[in-house]
Amino acid sequence: MTDGLVIPELDAGPFLLRPFRPGDLPLIEEAAADPYIPVISSVPVPYTEAAGLAFVQRQHDRARECVGYSLAIADRDGDRAVGQIGLWVTELAEGRAATGYWIAPSARGRGAAGHALAAVARWALTDLAIPRVHLHVEPWNTASIRTAERAGFQREGLLRSWMELGGVRRDMLLYARVAADGQAAPTD
Ligand SMILES: CC(C)(COP(=O)(O)OP(=O)(O)OC[C@H]1O[C@@H](n2cnc3c(N)ncnc32)[C@H](O)[C@@H]1OP(=O)(O)O)[C@@H](O)C(=O)NCCC(=O)NCCS
Repeated sequence: MTDGLVIPELDAGPFLLRPFRPGDLPLIEEAAADPYIPVISSVPVPYTEAAGLAFVQRQHDRARECVGYSLAIADRDGDRAVGQIGLWVTELAEGRAATGYWIAPSARGRGAAGHALAAVARWALTDLAIPRVHLHVEPWNTASIRTAERAGFQREGLLRSWMELGGVRRDMLLYARVAADGQAAPTD
């Protein structure tokens, strides 16, 4: 038996990564109104307070069930939550973990996802000693591609018709950062 994973607090430059809490509902409400975030996450549409609280609870359930760590990305100044980043560890026995992230529209343009991704990758590859962390990005998603590359992730290829999102088959670029890369990312 296991008691599950313990969601950490991680430094991410001007941001702090921490567990979600009920005070983060304004972030969930804003994310629910974004056209893409609900497609790639379990952010509830339509948003209600009850659905937002259930979202917060789900993030903790994923740690309890050892599925992975879901972290709020918060401004270090004021602790306002601006986004989410996950480290999913269901393939840990194979030496790999997956990550993914989103930032609320009002908080974009400050490199929040890049800071968060560099911090999660460093923690996963070094502290947790996971050999490989990977992520999937749609080819049109330049902001996410820049985020991945800035955080030291390398493009490995195009996975055609990889998965269905929002009822549509999607191509995905595969990016990874591995422990053997050794080099710190520019945003580390
Ligand atoms: C991808 C996302 C997390 C990035 O948010 P962010 O951290 O605020 O990113 P920024 O706006 O600071 O931009 C990051 C980089 O992309 C560039 N960029 C942003 N939007 C861009 C656009 N439309 N076209 C080209 N470049 C763009 C920025 O100039 C910046 O480049 P730099 O690192 O060279 O300075 C955010 O856009 C988002 O949440 N999108 C919806 C959800 C999503 O796509 N998640 C990722 C799924 S793989």
